[in-house]
Amino acid sequence: MSDILKDKVVVVTGAASGIGRAIAIGAAQHGARAVIVSDITETSNEGGRTTTSEIEALGVAVRFHRTDVSQRAQVDALVEAAAEFGGVDVMVANAGITLRSDGPDVAEDDYRRLMSVNLDGVLFSAQAAARQMKANGKAGSIVLMASMGGIAGAGMTVAYSTSKGGVVLMAKALADALGPDGIRVNAVAPGVIDTHLVRTNPGIAAASEGFRQRTPLRRLGKPSEIADSVAWLGSDMASYVSGIALLVDGGLLSVI
Ligand SMILES: NC(=O)c1ccc[n+]([C@@H]2O[C@H](COP(=O)([O-])OP(=O)(O)OC[C@H]3O[C@@H](n4cnc5c(N)ncnc54)[C@H](O)[C@@H]3O)[C@@H](O)[C@H]2O)c1
Repeated sequence: MSDILKDKVVVVTGAASGIGRAIAIGAAQHGARAVIVSDITETSNEGGRTTTSEIEALGVAVRFHRTDVSQRAQVDALVEAAAEFGGVDVMVANAGITLRSDGPDVAEDDYRRLMSVNLDGVLFSAQAAARQMKANGKAGSIVLMASMGGIAGAGMTVAYSTSKGGVVLMAKALADALGPDGIRVNAVAPGVIDTHLVRTNPGIAAASEGFRQRTPLRRLGKPSEIADSVAWLGSDMASYVSGIALLVDGGLLSVI
């Protein structure tokens, strides 16, 4: 497809399914030298071949690493696995969850579970990658998965919006901290993307038709469209881009 990730070693969390799967396969299609696919399960929600076998079929070096991103030691071990290829160049902290019931009365257990993945997991991923990049004296790119829900609020996703708003500011703060080491940190904020997460969450699935109608492009996004944006941020084509939250939403948040 392109060679913008030529020679790069890419690590993607939550990469068995949906957007993460598209990012990992997209990295291989954009020329990555090696891709480390990580998730709590290797089975794809979409069915069919695993992300790992899709990448193998492209002739790109790939490893699967089982990682629960809410567990710091597991995330550290994931990034360590990239040492086999000389260390991570592009870290994509994509894993994230939604809740069935996430209004103003969100239950404490659900709230903490969501934060442990959407915020703790993203921070642990960025920390582990930055530590390795600095130890290797390498410049690098860290891409954090936010959401349009982290830029505009929605009453049915109170905890989710809170977590994704945190990710947007995490990218800015880490960009400041890590920029002197040549490490860029950005967030990607997708609009409504047609994945298992959207189709199986009853509240979000019900709202998605309304979002589609208000979106200037009049359709939901495809996982591959997020993957292409992540590949660009990971590549040297974005060498002076750091600290942004790149909205990839078909224009939804730009209109009233
Ligand atoms: N689909 C959308 O419309 C949309 C919009 C904005 C942001 N996002 C964000 O994009 C990311 C991916 O969403 P998706 O739609 O592909 O969802 P998905 O449910 O299809 O895939 C998420 C993947 O993350 C994995 N995962 C869950 N908990 C994990 C954990 N603790 N550790 C490691 N992996 C874990 C799951 O196993 C799954 O493979 C999430 O951060 C989500 O918040 C999605």
